[in-house]
Amino acid sequence: MLGLISAGHLTRYPEREPVERIVAKYLGLAPQQVVLTNGVDEAIHVLFEAFLEAGDELLLPVPTYTMYEIYVSATDARSVTVQAADDLQFPFERLLAAITPRTKIIAIANPNSPSGSVATRAQIVEIANRAPQAVILVDEAYFHFHGETVVDLIGTLSNLVVARTFSKAYGLAGLRLGVLSGTIELMRWVRRVISPYSVNSLALACLPPALEDAAYLDWYVGEVLAARGEFDSALDAANVRRWPSRANFVLVEIGAEHAEFVRNMSAGGVLVRDRSSDPGCDGRVRITIGTRQQMREAILVLNETLAKLRSGKEMQ
Ligand SMILES: Cc1ncc(COP(=O)(O)O)c(C=O)c1O
Repeated sequence: MLGLISAGHLTRYPEREPVERIVAKYLGLAPQQVVLTNGVDEAIHVLFEAFLEAGDELLLPVPTYTMYEIYVSATDARSVTVQAADDLQFPFERLLAAITPRTKIIAIANPNSPSGSVATRAQIVEIANRAPQAVILVDEAYFHFHGETVVDLIGTLSNLVVARTFSKAYGLAGLRLGVLSGTIELMRWVRRVISPYSVNSLALACLPPALEDAAYLDWYVGEVLAARGEFDSALDAANVRRWPSRANFVLVEIGAEHAEFVRNMSAGGVLVRDRSSDPGCDGRVRITIGTRQQMREAILVLNETLAKLRSGKEMQ
């Protein structure tokens, strides 16, 4: 992909619109219905800047992606959180009950992080209908591992906004590429806030070939889904509680030794994130799922780590 870059890409300011047309076509939308962003993080940031004012509420089922709280704290609005039960399923009924006239954005990561749980299409439609005064942000960062989207509802639900990233299934996190989509009117507000140059020329040059490379995407998603199944079985065999995930990670219950678990797994080269400080996640760790080969190696490290922690416990 880097062979596509010319000196002109570096000397000129980036032009987002031609690539927005390509992405819009790929999503089945009109070009004015999509805005390319510097990762979904920028999409969240500009959406909150565009729609949240003093006295407004951001409604958030938790635990969820931490950047929603970070970016609401940069506005004069406040967040209202709805805690999921111990099963970490989407707290649909309680979220509906928490909607008020002040609710201006409802942010739903679907699949959610760190739980991997999902909201159904019917639930999203119901929420959008019950909160017509609010923008419903459905963050589909992990869409490819789940396979279900609400992008096609953008023409039907006037308050729906969908975010996608190229950081996960496409593996382009370092390029910082996201896309926000919604009605032309909502995207017009977003364009008033976003810098016209926030997506750089290198990222813009790489995006069309990445979109065309369906074979890579299919292969990678297939690998992750197969590896997730194998890893789930390994966790069950090792008697580790896990939450069923529709994303490329799995949340597991480690308990009091969570910090030691993370140290040991990371030392063995396995990407894990301690989620203990997330609401309702004390002692829980998120493990990223890679290819089958990577996860077979991860299973060895997992079993060694668990054996070490468990033998340490017996000695106490
Ligand atoms: C739910 C969710 N949304 C967005 C992001 C960030 O995406 P990007 O890299 O495009 O900023 C993440 C990253 O972990 C995520 O988990």
